[in-house]
Amino acid sequence: MSTHIGAQAGDIAPLVLMPGDPLRAKWIAETFLEDARCYTEVRGMYGFTGTWRGHRVSVQGSGMGQPSLAIYANELFREYDVQSVIRVGSCGAMTERVAVRDIVIASGACTDSSMNRIAFEGLDYAPVADFGLLRAAAEAAGVSTGSTNGTAHVGLIYSSDSFYPARPELSARMVDYAVLAVEMEASALYTLAAKHGRRALAICTVSDHLVTGEETTSQEREQTFGAMVEIALEAGTA
Ligand code: ADE
Repeated sequence: MSTHIGAQAGDIAPLVLMPGDPLRAKWIAETFLEDARCYTEVRGMYGFTGTWRGHRVSVQGSGMGQPSLAIYANELFREYDVQSVIRVGSCGAMTERVAVRDIVIASGACTDSSMNRIAFEGLDYAPVADFGLLRAAAEAAGVSTGSTNGTAHVGLIYSSDSFYPARPELSARMVDYAVLAVEMEASALYTLAAKHGRRALAICTVSDHLVTGEETTSQEREQTFGAMVEIALEAGTA
C-alpha cells in the first residue's frame, strides 16, 4: 500500500487511464473493462484493474488540479511501476477553432502553476506528451495530416491552477500562442512522467467554451467521454 492508494504490488496494470473524477473511473471500469476489480477506495479516489481486448488496464481517479494529480502519479510511478498514464478528462475551449464536444489531444501543456517554477528554480520547463502515445492517439482519433480533422485536435493546452481565474484576460493571451483549451492537470502529469522515465498523454473532451459560453449536457458529456476513452485505450495498447 502506498500513502494514498490502497493497492498491493501487482494490483495495478502497467497502463493506467486517469480521469479527474473517481466516479468516472468507476464508469470507465464498468463500461469498458472486463473482470474489473476495485483496488483502492482510499479517500473515495477509486482505482480499478480489468482487461480490455486482452490487455490489463487500470483506471485511477486523480482528483482536480495539479497537486492532487501529482500525489497519485508519483505513487503510481514510484511504488507500482506504472509505465504509461493517459489522462482522460474535460477541458474548456479557449478559441473558436475548437467546439464543445470536440476532443483535444495535448502535445504539450503550459501552466500558471508554481510547482515547476519551484522545482526548476525559475527556469521554464516545457512539459510535453510521450511521442508514441501522442502519435497513436492522433491515429486512433483520425488526425492523420495537419493538427486536426475538424473535431479532434492535436496541440497545446493550458493547465491552470484556477477554474475561476482572477484575471481571465491573462489566460486568453495564451490563445495568441496557439493554445487550444484549458484544464487543470496535464502539465504536472507530463513533468512527472518525464522525471520517472515513463510515458504520459492527456486527452480531453471539450465540456464548455470560454468564448461562446456554450456548455455540454451531461448526456453529451457521457457520449464524448466514451469516444475519448476508446481513443485512450487504443493508443495505450497499440
Ligand atoms: N475543465 C473543464 N472546463 C474547464 C475550464 N473552463 N477551466 C478549467 N478546467 C476545465
